[in-house]
Amino acid sequence: MDFSIKAYDTKNPILSAKTGCVAVAVYENKKLSAAAAALDQSGDISAAIKSGDITGKAGTSLLLRGVGGVSAARVLLVGMGAFDAVTDKAFTTAVHATLKCFGQLGASDAIIAFPLTEVKGRDLAWAIHTIVIGAHEAQFRTDGQKSKKDPERTGVKKLLLAVDAVDAKAKLALAQAQAIARGMDLTKELGNLSANVCTPTYLANTAKKLGKEYKFDVEVLDRKQLEALKMNSFLSVTNGSDEPPKFIVLKHMGGKKNDAPVVLVGKGITFDTGGISLKAGAGMDEMKYDMCGAASVLGTFRAIGEMGLDLNVVGIIAACENMPSGRATKPGDIVTSMAGLTIEVLNTDAEGRLVLCDALAYAERFNPAAVVDIATLTGACIVALGHHNSGLFARDDAASNGLVQQLLDAGKQAGDTAWRLPIGEAYNDQLKSNFADLGNIGTPGGASCTAAAFLENFTRSYAWAHLDIAGTAWKSGGAKGATGRPVPLLSTFLINRA
Ligand code: BES
Ligand code: MN
Ligand code: ZN
Repeated sequence: MDFSIKAYDTKNPILSAKTGCVAVAVYENKKLSAAAAALDQSGDISAAIKSGDITGKAGTSLLLRGVGGVSAARVLLVGMGAFDAVTDKAFTTAVHATLKCFGQLGASDAIIAFPLTEVKGRDLAWAIHTIVIGAHEAQFRTDGQKSKKDPERTGVKKLLLAVDAVDAKAKLALAQAQAIARGMDLTKELGNLSANVCTPTYLANTAKKLGKEYKFDVEVLDRKQLEALKMNSFLSVTNGSDEPPKFIVLKHMGGKKNDAPVVLVGKGITFDTGGISLKAGAGMDEMKYDMCGAASVLGTFRAIGEMGLDLNVVGIIAACENMPSGRATKPGDIVTSMAGLTIEVLNTDAEGRLVLCDALAYAERFNPAAVVDIATLTGACIVALGHHNSGLFARDDAASNGLVQQLLDAGKQAGDTAWRLPIGEAYNDQLKSNFADLGNIGTPGGASCTAAAFLENFTRSYAWAHLDIAGTAWKSGGAKGATGRPVPLLSTFLINRA
């Protein structure tokens, strides 16, 4: 989709805009938006509303052709709910209905002339983000590995957003929205790719490609180097696999040379069988998504590369497969992590924390301003929060320089929300082992919290937060596919810090 913004006024009225379709809002109780009123010189629009063909309820729509006095071939009336009280839900619903209709039109260009600054509690940037990300979502294809491609999408390819003024604010909002949408596209592509293609090596190559395109410094460490770093916890997860592990480090140095970077750490298990603690067969294919933390780091890097963000950001990805074999780690095996803490691997399916603890120890060398790890870490997080919120864990906010609030706020702002869950001494107590410093699973109950508590042990030298994205990174069932979350949250968080 090709996006642009334009301001219409009395000298340059929307009435004479030549386009395949112009979408305008109408409200309940037969009320017109300003743009709808501007197109209603002939009275055709009010007549259509009077006829009862559209109620104005959010998401309803009515396509009109040949509206008197209007240069556009079509006018799409879209319900936006209550007049004077446009909620973000109503606006989002209206945008999705509009994009669906645009996808089925015989026109290739269109204008959206919605009340972008009238959404309660939201601003212009939010409205533009909602449209741009929605349009990418509607255009996203999942036929990359099909021998016969899905038919080319018909409908609108060029979308013009009517704004009050083409100023710096509007331009920036559009550029940022497009950057985030492109980042999400990459995250979704990587997530959906089958695990026989999307291996640790594939992730490393993707990082290198991004590095070339956006001038990131990219370094890929392999087994020998990981052995030298004593990342025995990470390496213990790779024991059963024939795929070589890759430890990927990306650097975007957009800030001042000596500014402490924000570090993003992604779990990159390209397939999680559970290892010797083998998972059940049903639905196991979805464990190809166990690298969505890593994919969200790469997607966020694409977004900040597109934006040329003025901030130092380091991305770390610990990528490997978790497989059973004669060489695989066994329950009860004890390994020494890079940080020196010994870990009793009581369950080889709790492998995410084993790769992350070494990546978090490695992050220390950057003297980070903050570290955020992103992981499809626990099924229990889906039980706790469903598919709506990512789980957010951190020590107290004062000690983290406001990190928790920044992440919660960024999530709200981006429509990619997180919800805080607890860690602390009680959960740490659940991780006690008779034979090592830590067990890798807790006593029953609160599995998301004990997983986060485990990670916390490796993060004491910096401000840290953990996002459990098990419920938000992909959808199951008929609409199976990666969502691109939490790229909007992470990108917005970084934009706000820049
Ligand atoms: N990758 C899984 C977590 C997961 C499971 C995410 C299902 C999304 C859907 C993780 O490696 C795992 O297996 N976690 C275990 C932890 C348990 C052994 C303490 C889990 O959640 O069952
Ligand atoms: Mn697992
Ligand atoms: Zn896993």
